[in-house]
Amino acid sequence: TPKIVRTKKELQTHVQRWHRAGQKVGLVPTMGALHHGHLSLVDYIAHSVDKIIATIFVNPTQFGAGEDLDSYPRQEKQDLEALSRTACDLVFIPDASEIYPDGFSTTVSLSGITEILEGAKRPGHFDGVATVVTKLLLMSRCNVAVFGEKDYQQLAVIKQVTKDLDLPVTILGAPLIREKDGLAASSRNAYLSEKERAIAAHLNQVLKECVTLIHTGTPLREAERIARQSLLDIGFESIDYITIVDPTSLKQLDSVTDINTARLLAVARLGRVRLLDNMPV
Ligand code: PAJ
Repeated sequence: TPKIVRTKKELQTHVQRWHRAGQKVGLVPTMGALHHGHLSLVDYIAHSVDKIIATIFVNPTQFGAGEDLDSYPRQEKQDLEALSRTACDLVFIPDASEIYPDGFSTTVSLSGITEILEGAKRPGHFDGVATVVTKLLLMSRCNVAVFGEKDYQQLAVIKQVTKDLDLPVTILGAPLIREKDGLAASSRNAYLSEKERAIAAHLNQVLKECVTLIHTGTPLREAERIARQSLLDIGFESIDYITIVDPTSLKQLDSVTDINTARLLAVARLGRVRLLDNMPV
């Protein structure tokens, strides 16, 4: 079973020992409520490093007013149990005061990529993510860190920060893990009613159909429009966006010249849940 530490001093003691032994250290940042999507990140990074640290921290600065910070599921015991069945060596579970002590006053803020899509719907969200991830990467002194393609824009933001600030870390993107019916695994799926849960699986289905439309020559705006209408017809309450973008800048594409590099991103609402999905075009 992995060892648990709650302070950065303890964290660094372990990492220092590993580095002295010439071992490469990998980091898997999470907010807990772990499911098989999270656990797949541990398996994924295991191929690249000798030691693996998972972090569990519900980061307050990435939640907006009226979002689910207080009700976000917290289940430390189950999370540790789940991690004990993986290759994870150490779990870092800091208090908020360990990450944001009194007097904390720095924000890592990106322009452009954080202002569109999720960033437009959740102002300040990605600055909170960028700030906490930068801190976790630096305080852990990890060599490699992994993030899921489930949160495709988050992965793009973290790659951008790492590049811009010359953070000495390799960022890996791991594949999106789905439930059997295609729904992207997410801690927030627990908020869905039975009826909503049945509708939810169609998001993945419609995105796949959208990709097929594009492959058979449908113009991008038209494919997006058809997919949006299908989602509304199926019972989604509203569509925040469904769009085909450049995989690095996340800017909307007008035509797919290199079809293998485009990404289809979508967010649809069901009850109080915003369901995210994405796939290569
Ligand atoms: P959280 O939502 O707990 O997700 C932690 C990591 O698991 C992220 O990299 C996310 O993309 C990945 N993940 C979640 N569901 C996944 C799925 N179905 N398939 C693949 N990967 C999946 O994302 C965050 O926490 C936070 O913003 C964090 C990066 C920890 C900063 O606070």
